[in-house]
Amino acid sequence: MRMRRLRRTSALRDLVSETELSPRRMIQPLFVVSGESVREPVASMPGVERFSINELLGEAAELLAVGVEAVILFGIPSTKDETAGGAYDDEGIVQMAVRALKEAHPELTVITDVCLCAYTDHGHCGFVREGKVDNDITLELLAKTAISHAEAGADVVAPSDMMDGRIGMIRHQLDEEGHAEMPIIAYSAKYASAFYGPFREAAGSTPEFGDRRGYQMNPANVREALREVRLDVEEGADMVMVKPALPYLDVIRAIRDDVDLPIAAYQVSGEYSMLKAAAANGWIDERAAALEALTAIRRAGADVIFTYYAKEVAAWLT
Ligand code: PBG
Repeated sequence: MRMRRLRRTSALRDLVSETELSPRRMIQPLFVVSGESVREPVASMPGVERFSINELLGEAAELLAVGVEAVILFGIPSTKDETAGGAYDDEGIVQMAVRALKEAHPELTVITDVCLCAYTDHGHCGFVREGKVDNDITLELLAKTAISHAEAGADVVAPSDMMDGRIGMIRHQLDEEGHAEMPIIAYSAKYASAFYGPFREAAGSTPEFGDRRGYQMNPANVREALREVRLDVEEGADMVMVKPALPYLDVIRAIRDDVDLPIAAYQVSGEYSMLKAAAANGWIDERAAALEALTAIRRAGADVIFTYYAKEVAAWLT
């Protein structure tokens, strides 16, 4: 047997390729800020900007033009408080952005990140009582947030807080409020990762005390990820997510082998910034390395990928 026979030409290699990358399976994260005609570059994430709503509309048009049909929105509110009021305000930054995006581009799939960390004055993903993140009070606030996103016209809600029971609570409340058709992407296996550093700079969501290890997962664990996923499936998740992606390919694979629903993987800010930094230094071929990382994430079993590379990769692929 000669394994090289089917590697001889590019056409032959393409013919027998087991994994494909398509912009249709990529979701572009977008940061939205208040103001008019604002585009602020994020220093630690070259190529990523924070957009005001009017600028966001133009960016969405460019994404659609290259074949990226889905985005996830992260809001950066102008004020923060103890109860994360901006997260579930009908006139909040994400709610207004969703309305504007859906009006300008009804064909764009608008996913919203449901979390409180960018809206609380201490930067934790939940309501803090006596120095601790209170799980069950937080659930109420998350459900309010998801409902306000649904009411603004979001297509999918994606809770990223890692509180226990949030999928069940959000599903129940959405159903009660007439949003039974709203899908939920659960950030099921979200690890307490050092790779979120650049995102926290972009979103201004670094916790002021402590860390997120009391709610996000320990990077050492994979069986626990399966338990998280099974719970979220029971509670009504429509899709589950693994995050970060490249350092957790075994987790993606284990989940793929265990459940049948679609799996998303989030190539997070640190994964993106590492590639950008190495490329800027001339140490790697950015295009080849980014495509290889994304292909590996798909090969491990992810159906869709949240990636800051979505727009760039879409342009490379066409
Ligand atoms: C909010 C949230 C985070 C990310 C997505 N949603 C940050 C965190 O948990 O600190 C990280 C995304 C990235 O690093 O690209 N809870």
